[in-house]
Amino acid sequence: MDDLAQLLESKLDQRLRSHITKINLTSISRIPASRIKKTALPNIGSIELVSSEAFATSYDELYRSNFHGGERERSDLIVTRLQDDANGLREDLAPYRIIGIRDPAGRVAGGAQFSVLFLKDGRHAVPYLQYVYVRPENRRQDLSELMHTLTLAVAMADAAKRRGNEDIAVPFTLFETEPPVHGSSADKRATAAERTKIHSKSGSVALMLRRIADHRILSAHVQSGLEIGEPPLTYVWALRGNPGVALELRDDQMGKALVAAYYQSLRDEGFPEENIALAERMVEARYRGSEFCLMPLGDVTKEMYVDIDESESGMGGKT
Ligand SMILES: CC(C)(COP(=O)(O)OP(=O)(O)OC[C@H]1O[C@@H](n2cnc3c(N)ncnc32)[C@H](O)[C@@H]1OP(=O)(O)O)[C@@H](O)C(=O)NCCC(=O)NCCS
Repeated sequence: MDDLAQLLESKLDQRLRSHITKINLTSISRIPASRIKKTALPNIGSIELVSSEAFATSYDELYRSNFHGGERERSDLIVTRLQDDANGLREDLAPYRIIGIRDPAGRVAGGAQFSVLFLKDGRHAVPYLQYVYVRPENRRQDLSELMHTLTLAVAMADAAKRRGNEDIAVPFTLFETEPPVHGSSADKRATAAERTKIHSKSGSVALMLRRIADHRILSAHVQSGLEIGEPPLTYVWALRGNPGVALELRDDQMGKALVAAYYQSLRDEGFPEENIALAERMVEARYRGSEFCLMPLGDVTKEMYVDIDESESGMGGKT
């Protein structure tokens, strides 16, 4: 057993431990086990794959206190998804997982909520991390680092389960972010700036489109409105590399497959079709004459994602 797996063994609940038993955790952790031992371990009572009941009774409150407005998915949808998963009703869909950490007294300290997207190429799986949060008194203890590592581990174990003849690699974690220039108030901008700083420290990069004719860089991410009547929002896709794999974008097809897998997962989860189709059309328009590229998150500017669409039924302006 590798160092990190050994360190965490007694903390993992049975379901999580048996799921990731074959994964070498040390090789996919950005920080060494010796640091985790000092920073995170003393503050952890247990680490679990969160059930629907545990989410509703213990995690939901912390989730809701960290995310607001249009960025937050409805809690009842999350509970239903976890219930369906436990009842074997999601076999053909992207696995949906929540990794949760409790303190030694059993109180919730943090959570990471993600879907595992399988790309059409049949060779890659990517955890799409929707939310990661740590309660204020447990911040700067490497808990989010640990949850990022376990997110990769769970996705790798899910990929191994689905494997046919070929290995399915998990090259990075996908998440969306708001650059610091986004946000209507100084408060929101400060939050976004802090998030960008944290993401950049982890070596995360933005996945963007570069227009070949004039080299203009555009965001490749339009989130569809999560509720009927809500407009699409342009955010920025970010990739956090799997420390065990070099972070590179193999080719344009991979970028497109990633974006397609995202919209497919929104469809699978039953988000409003009209909203999804609109967001997808907007991204496809941006594809024209462009290619995917990676760039530092801190280099993303307003011109790359604000008011960049030609106008799509008047709804694109909200971005
Ligand atoms: C973002 C968040 C999850 C980070 O959790 P955390 O457990 O405190 O982070 P970690 O201790 O694992 O630190 C991870 C890295 O980010 C750095 N970091 C964490 N918080 C930071 C801050 N406020 N400013 C600068 N760097 C910070 C750490 O130093 C570490 O980098 P290092 O290895 O180079 O030292 C937590 O601040 C949070 O819950 N914020 C509110 C919700 C949110 O914004 N979630 C993210 C968007 S989905």
